[in-house]
Amino acid sequence: MGTEDSPYHKALMAVPVSLRGMPRSPRVIVYTLAFIAIFYSIPWLNLGSRDGIIPPLFQRRPRYDVLQYVDPLIGTANGGHVFPGATLPYGMAKPVADTQSPGENAAGYVSDTNPILGFSHLHDSGTGGNPSLGNFPLFVHPGCANDDYRACRFAVNNRPVYRIPDQVFASPGYFAINLTNTVRAEMTASQHVALYRFGFSGKEKVDTLEGRGIPYSPLVLVDLVDLMNSRSAGGVQVYPESGRIVGDGQYSPSFGTGRYQAFFCADFKGARIRRSGTFIGDDAREEPKFFGGHEPGWNNPSGSAGAWVQFERPEGDELLVRVGVSFISVDQACENAEREIGDWDFERVEGEARTAWRKKLGAIEIDPRGVSDELQVTFWSGLYRSMLSPQNYTGENQLWNSTEPYYDSFYCIWDSFRAQHPLLTIIDPVAQTEMIRALVDIFRHEGKLPDCRMSFSKGFTQGGSNADIVIADAWVKNLTANIDWETAYEAVVSDAEIEPPEWGIQGRGSLVSWHKLGYIPWDDKDVNGTGPMSRSVSRGVEYAYDDFCIAQLAEGLNRPADAHKYRLRGANWQNFWNPDQLDLPSPEKTQYRNPNDPSSYSDLVPLTGFKGFLQPRLRNGTFRHQPVRTCSPVSDFHSCYFDTVYDTYEGSPWLYSFFAPQDMATLIRLMGGRDTFVSRLAYFHESGIAYMGNEQAFLPTFQFHYAGRPGMSSYYVRKYIPSLFNASVNGIPGNDDCAMGAFTAFAMMGFFPVAGQDVYLLTPPFFREVRIKAWEEGKWAVIRVRNFDERGRRIYVREAWLNGRKYTRNWITHGFFRKGGVLEFVVGEEEGDWGTREEDVPPSYPVKEWVPSRGMSPEELAAELAG
Ligand SMILES: *[C@@H]1O[C@H](CO)[C@@H](O)[C@H](O)[C@H]1NC(C)=O
Ligand SMILES: *[C@@H]1O[C@H](CO)[C@@H](O)[C@H](O)[C@H]1NC(C)=O
Ligand SMILES: *[C@@H]1O[C@H](CO)[C@@H](O)[C@H](O)[C@H]1NC(C)=O
Ligand SMILES: *[C@@H]1O[C@H](CO)[C@@H](O)[C@H](O)[C@H]1NC(C)=O
Ligand SMILES: *[C@@H]1O[C@H](CO)[C@@H](O)[C@H](O)[C@H]1NC(C)=O
Ligand SMILES: *[C@@H]1O[C@H](CO)[C@@H](O)[C@H](O)[C@H]1NC(C)=O
Ligand SMILES: *[C@@H]1O[C@H](CO)[C@@H](O)[C@H](O)[C@H]1NC(C)=O
Repeated sequence: MGTEDSPYHKALMAVPVSLRGMPRSPRVIVYTLAFIAIFYSIPWLNLGSRDGIIPPLFQRRPRYDVLQYVDPLIGTANGGHVFPGATLPYGMAKPVADTQSPGENAAGYVSDTNPILGFSHLHDSGTGGNPSLGNFPLFVHPGCANDDYRACRFAVNNRPVYRIPDQVFASPGYFAINLTNTVRAEMTASQHVALYRFGFSGKEKVDTLEGRGIPYSPLVLVDLVDLMNSRSAGGVQVYPESGRIVGDGQYSPSFGTGRYQAFFCADFKGARIRRSGTFIGDDAREEPKFFGGHEPGWNNPSGSAGAWVQFERPEGDELLVRVGVSFISVDQACENAEREIGDWDFERVEGEARTAWRKKLGAIEIDPRGVSDELQVTFWSGLYRSMLSPQNYTGENQLWNSTEPYYDSFYCIWDSFRAQHPLLTIIDPVAQTEMIRALVDIFRHEGKLPDCRMSFSKGFTQGGSNADIVIADAWVKNLTANIDWETAYEAVVSDAEIEPPEWGIQGRGSLVSWHKLGYIPWDDKDVNGTGPMSRSVSRGVEYAYDDFCIAQLAEGLNRPADAHKYRLRGANWQNFWNPDQLDLPSPEKTQYRNPNDPSSYSDLVPLTGFKGFLQPRLRNGTFRHQPVRTCSPVSDFHSCYFDTVYDTYEGSPWLYSFFAPQDMATLIRLMGGRDTFVSRLAYFHESGIAYMGNEQAFLPTFQFHYAGRPGMSSYYVRKYIPSLFNASVNGIPGNDDCAMGAFTAFAMMGFFPVAGQDVYLLTPPFFREVRIKAWEEGKWAVIRVRNFDERGRRIYVREAWLNGRKYTRNWITHGFFRKGGVLEFVVGEEEGDWGTREEDVPPSYPVKEWVPSRGMSPEELAAELAG
């Protein structure tokens, strides 16, 4: 799409509150002046500085308001599923306009042309599948035909109205949209409270798309429905004098099992009340003022039902609605509302939200000179999205009382372990520490760590027990404060050792075989638990990496025997390596999974010369065949989910064959050496087999480093940013998962984590200089390009210095972000020899004592049959 369509123009117009009322032309002048001021007053950087810790010169820097460069609407089209509404970092209240966009409105709002269902206050960001939360939407009519409230539409399937094209605006802490029923909606949020400001035309009779000559007398309804229409139970009460509406309901999580309860408390300000009542479907009445399911005899409908208040003409033609939410009780929802927004001051709440975001984003500074606005918006918006979730529900845990923090919406760790949590570890170690503590507390109370979790419910596990990686990552990077490492260790060991009865929602499956055989057989007889038996290869290689991560924790906690055991298991990914497997095209699906016909592939001609792929195995040790490209964009793309016939999850054997972060040296050897590895990885990216819309593709963008070709990583980073990760509404290639933004942010800053290890892979940043607030007070980790190229052609590191000393490794450790320092690059238009030597590549951990599995012997198989 063209730049005319890009909302980033709007992001640049993100107007500070104090300016919002100004007419357009003075606004433009103010901005022009501001830009000129910023441009000329950026201090000249000391490009030659090589020594140690440099003073925080950016304190002298004139105002560069990062919020002007955050566009929350990025990723609200084409499957990004980003939440663009108002929220605090990790905030629970997340108000936005919900659109009637089936299959796309996972986060409520979609940049399309569908009508608006209402404005709801709880959401998740970036997820796939069903829409999450979206409970208790408000809906506003400017009036009802013939001044008869029964003529207004109440039910969620009847009431939607269209928006006015191009009249939507989003900025951190603020969201606004204009509807064709003449209502203008603005919203902001504190931690547990959404504040709405609805504006009206002021005309006595309103003409809308829905009707003409409607008498002006706003009617606001609150519906108990959620976006998934999963409600049962619950009830609502409207207080006719104050207009306060409270209520609750029980709902289903969007990607998990169980039910959760939610509560709200809505108050109004700015107009006198005329009448009030309740509604069920489209049937609205002034009486009763209450219905609910908590006492026998009351009508307790499911679906769309709630309460309403109709008002006189509001003063100033504006009506404020404050909605407190809670997962504990209606009372707590009202307390939250009164405590957090007792003053009804929209500008204060919005200002505080913006200050909170500025502070969080202030962990990073960039030198914007010579970098397009679009790239700056891509960068800051990515960082911003990384802090939308997990959500801080501390004090709102409906499942248990605890003094530990409680975070929810780990949605899902399978996505977020790779980049998002490592990013938070650097830019917000306090929040990341609270998240680790919350994970450990979930283990304490539920017996297992989550892999995916939303709305107090257990979500579906996509691969391994990857919370193990998040915990190990925190350990190797020395996040310590108040983390109970003994219990954390118990939790990861529980994942590794004890199979839960339902391993589709926690822990791991096929553990008996994993322990005994060192792989998950395709024909596994798992008697210890049940779960979707597919994905033996992808689960297997993730279990191996999880075990490697546990080994690091065991070492750190001084448990050498455990460390040894888990190191050995960490090498088990090799048991899936079929050295003879060729790059064959996918045969007909029907031929597939026919265990009695191995010859059906023999006449297929390999597509490339690459040999050796991960493949499923039988109990007797023999390999089965899964076509190596299946489940990639080039072949049967959407055929690998939980319970399909395939052995890889949301990806092909081609993709998973690169997943050995613990021992890339051995993988490179198995693939035929450095050169073959590099051409194979490049082919993966060039052939269309790689899919950047899913998180497994992140690390393979950088794995050239392990073969001494860091320049190739840099090349592919720039191939994907901005062509696939950019500042347009469709600027994310898949579900954001609060992860795509972290990938972008890391890649543009010039380093990428190997999650679970103390390793970051280095590439030149997209900026002249990036500064990252170090953990040590007052220090910064500075990454600087000495000969920065505004044309973007010098993309290869030729030389590097760390704190003034020559630096040849193509990776760095977390000490840099803890203590601060200066890393400087000289870049060139061609790859040089920086970071290419054997001793310059990141560490691998081969396990010498590891013995390949031969599967079960005929005797064992016979014994199993007999017994
Ligand atoms: C909504 O309409 C008002 C009045 O026309 C206008 O000032 C405002 O900018 C519009 N809002 C958005 C988000 O476009
Ligand atoms: C937490 O403690 C409060 C106050 O004692 C109690 O009312 C509530 O039921 C407890 N919640 C849970 C989930 O145990
Ligand atoms: C999470 O919420 C709790 C309770 O409101 C608060 O004390 C804590 O500071 C919050 N954590 C972060 C990282 O904001
Ligand atoms: C499997 O179940 C058996 C029998 O209950 C038990 O002894 C064993 O520890 C279980 N193994 C795993 C890995 O959970
Ligand atoms: C393992 O089982 C398969 C299918 O039954 C069979 O084709 C194969 O020959 C067996 N391998 C061994 C080593 O017995
Ligand atoms: C932005 O990213 C999207 C999604 O990945 C892509 O389809 C689009 O072509 C990109 N736009 C530009 C201008 O590069
Ligand atoms: C973490 O702490 C250990 C032991 O105190 C130390 O050896 C290591 O260098 C630290 N790691 C980082 C990243 O600071």
